Amino acid sequence: EKKLNILNLPELEQQAKEIIPTGGFGYISGGSEDEWTLRANRKAFTHKQIVPRALSNIEKPVLDTTVFGFPLKTPVMMAPTAAQGLAHAKGEVDTAKGVAAVGGLMAQSTYSSTSISDTAAAGDGAPQFFQLYMSKDWTFNESLLDEAKKAGVKGIILTVDATVDGYREADIINNFQFPIPMPNLTQYSEGNGQGKGIAEIYASAAQKIGPKDVERIASYTDLPVIVKGIESPEDALYAIGAGAAGVYVSNHGGRQLNGGPASFDVLADVAKAVNGKVPVIFDSGVRRGSDVFKAIASGADLVAIGRPAIYGLALGGAQGVQSVFKHLDQELEIIMQLAGTKTIDDIKKTNLLGINY
Ligand code: FNR
Repeated sequence: EKKLNILNLPELEQQAKEIIPTGGFGYISGGSEDEWTLRANRKAFTHKQIVPRALSNIEKPVLDTTVFGFPLKTPVMMAPTAAQGLAHAKGEVDTAKGVAAVGGLMAQSTYSSTSISDTAAAGDGAPQFFQLYMSKDWTFNESLLDEAKKAGVKGIILTVDATVDGYREADIINNFQFPIPMPNLTQYSEGNGQGKGIAEIYASAAQKIGPKDVERIASYTDLPVIVKGIESPEDALYAIGAGAAGVYVSNHGGRQLNGGPASFDVLADVAKAVNGKVPVIFDSGVRRGSDVFKAIASGADLVAIGRPAIYGLALGGAQGVQSVFKHLDQELEIIMQLAGTKTIDDIKKTNLLGINY
């Protein structure tokens, strides 16, 4: 348990590689096929520029924002990521503590290493969402939704971009199988995930999802349902039409459709289609304060990080997670001040340049 002395988020990957076993590290860090989309996710942030506003009289920007009715101290949230026990013995429980300490929003994965209620309890009253991988087994879906509600979770993230797992070569090379149980699977279905590869785990998840499924989930639960894995304006409109309370723009951190665009490159068009009807969450490749700024200026209400927070967890438990979010917030504050934006709402009103260097 230690505060991390962080220079930047990208450098955490190498540090984490030294302490996470090879199979787990490959699963966490890798993307699919040639990893073009994984790399494009970073590069895309160079496609837009923030114009300095030197005479704007801004001092001490404020990161507070309210999304889905929840007051947050930062627009940066924890993306739902599976099996955090690979990074740290305490897994999601520590991630929840770290995120709560910065006043952020935590999302739990269906494939968490700790149970919905344990993770929720660790969040110290801070809002949490539960991410659902829709199963073919409808009673399983309902059990998880009920359990989330009972645990005090405030929203459901329905991930729709993983009806088959991306072709991830690191996992094949390492013959990767989850070394730790997934408590959410134990309770309601056969097996607990331990000793299985990602393909086997995904095999019980729904292998086709359409608007009717979104409708069914949204009408079952009274929690807001946010549809994750949207990269096209058409899908965003289908999701909203089916009752989605939020659209989550993501390409799963380059782990699913390799050859697809960088998530940032499609964000503005998706946000334009959503047109303020529901909040927009964005992720994939966010590592810098300037990335967060650009995403918000392009239409995101919340910006999520996946891998950097897991690396923070590996390196320093709850404190490490807290340090990662704190560092990103600090970079964001610098950018906001130099760009003449006092608040998150000011960022939303900012026009970026689009010079393709
Ligand atoms: C993920 N992601 C993910 N998404 C989801 O909806 N459910 C899940 O269980 C997981 N699991 C998962 C595990 C690991 C190890 C990673 C790296 C990612 C995707 C995640 O929510 C998010 O979209 C990406 O992590 C964002 O990209 P960056 O920030 O990692 O670049």
